[in-house]
Amino acid sequence: MPAGWSPPLPSKASPPQPPLSSRNSEGRVTSQHEQAQQSATLGSVRWLQIQSGSDLDLHSQLKDLIPEQQDRLKKLKAEHGKVELGKITVDMVIGGMRGMTGLLWETSLLDPEEGIRFRGLSIPECQKVLPAAKPGGEPLPEGLLWLLLTGKVPSKEQVDALSKELQSRSTVPDYVYKAINALPVTAHPMTQFASGVMALQVKSEFQKAYEKGMPKAKFWEPTYEDSLNLIAQVPVVASYVYRRIFKGGQIIPADESLDYGGNFSHMLGFDNPKMLELMRLYVTIHSDHEGGNVSAHTAHLVASALSDPYLSFAAALNGLAGPLHGLANQEVLLWIKSVVEECGENITTDQLKDYVWKTLNSGKVVPGFGHGVLRKTDPRYMCQREFALKYLPDDPLFQLVSKLYEVVPPILTELGKVKNPWPNVDAHSGVLLNHFGLSEARYFTVLFGVSRSMGVCSQLIWDRALGLPLERPKSVTMDWLESYCKKAA
Ligand SMILES: CC(C)(COP(=O)(O)OP(=O)(O)OC[C@H]1O[C@@H](n2cnc3c(N)ncnc32)[C@H](O)[C@@H]1OP(=O)(O)O)[C@@H](O)C(=O)NCCC(=O)NCCS
Repeated sequence: MPAGWSPPLPSKASPPQPPLSSRNSEGRVTSQHEQAQQSATLGSVRWLQIQSGSDLDLHSQLKDLIPEQQDRLKKLKAEHGKVELGKITVDMVIGGMRGMTGLLWETSLLDPEEGIRFRGLSIPECQKVLPAAKPGGEPLPEGLLWLLLTGKVPSKEQVDALSKELQSRSTVPDYVYKAINALPVTAHPMTQFASGVMALQVKSEFQKAYEKGMPKAKFWEPTYEDSLNLIAQVPVVASYVYRRIFKGGQIIPADESLDYGGNFSHMLGFDNPKMLELMRLYVTIHSDHEGGNVSAHTAHLVASALSDPYLSFAAALNGLAGPLHGLANQEVLLWIKSVVEECGENITTDQLKDYVWKTLNSGKVVPGFGHGVLRKTDPRYMCQREFALKYLPDDPLFQLVSKLYEVVPPILTELGKVKNPWPNVDAHSGVLLNHFGLSEARYFTVLFGVSRSMGVCSQLIWDRALGLPLERPKSVTMDWLESYCKKAA
């Protein structure tokens, strides 16, 4: 790698920008002073401050931030490297490492009671401060991407610039479609999607640069290029998969006047403005859920071997395709439809209770309920519920979802072993999509996958910028544990 390697899209000189403004809880535009106060109350968002004359170019913003964060990590390691973070028990080792702190993940943090915060901002806070397509509308996912990457709330101008940049990177090579076409049309949408992502890898900038040789300090730059290209191209691949499987292969070209989420909905074939809003909300809230969940952790682990973002993200998708993780959104709608098929839409509470018990007694889980970390109702569920109350209060399947919210938690609590009986993100997404005509449940996890590209890739860029090492935890055998415990007794 030549020492002077620079990304294919050089940073643009940025015109002066007005001070960042945002909407407060009443939807009012807040002043610079008010926002500075707000940033103090939001504590952990260290960069949520006004950027007068801020840059429209994400790459140059990152370039400025990285040295500061590298120093911060170096200092943390030097001053506190030996501080203990807790105990590791045998239960944790054989119990999927629950509760074991073991990963650095900068883009988001999950509180068991409160839910996810993206760079310190909760979902309702993101809905207030991130730019929207229309006043009071849902956040634009590009804004969330900017926030995840920089820790700063972007201005509408910055978001629009990022939208354009993603559009300019969205051309998918022909061989990607050919790779997908090599699969039977009956293959699961996630199989087709992950295969398309693997085919995108052919153009990896990171792989090319690494083969040539580049200093470690430069690793983040081709990772950034791959990540933005990947994020730009996954909606195109995903909508191709949808149209191929469910719409006889009739492809809808992109509408360049639309933003990321709106255009994704358009390419899928849904132009109802409410569906566009839903897609913006959907992509935003599904983007990231700290680092330990199966898809995020998989990407982080694979990338720690210096696999490029495509390889890492394709691996994440394969984890997302599991029924205990991302596939649960498919399972929820299929399960809800099976309830209606058997008992009708006007099902009574007692009939619903019987159906839940029947599901549990057949050895299945109730999809959409429970969580590995959360111990309360998922705020991602709550904001989708609010969306439904606003746009589709009379939808019969939404009413069934509301009934399940009352019926399922007491039953799961009665089981005595479920740590979190409350609904998660997947309990709600399917009925919203179904309402606007996207009724093919088998496709739902692909939407989750497109959204996840934002969180996973943002962190991968920081993994490279911070020079995080190969991940290699220690494993032990049952023999080892037994003899260790005997000695410890
Ligand atoms: C998400 C999930 C995998 C978390 O698993 P976990 O961290 O092991 O959860 P818990 O510690 O509460 O599990 C303890 C027991 O309760 C069971 N349990 C948890 N959630 C359950 C549910 N929704 N329905 C039935 N049983 C459930 C577990 O299967 C486990 O049973 P076991 O000891 O017989 O194996 C689990 O709640 C689940 O399977 N939910 C349904 C699938 C789903 O919605 N996934 C999407 C998550 S965002």
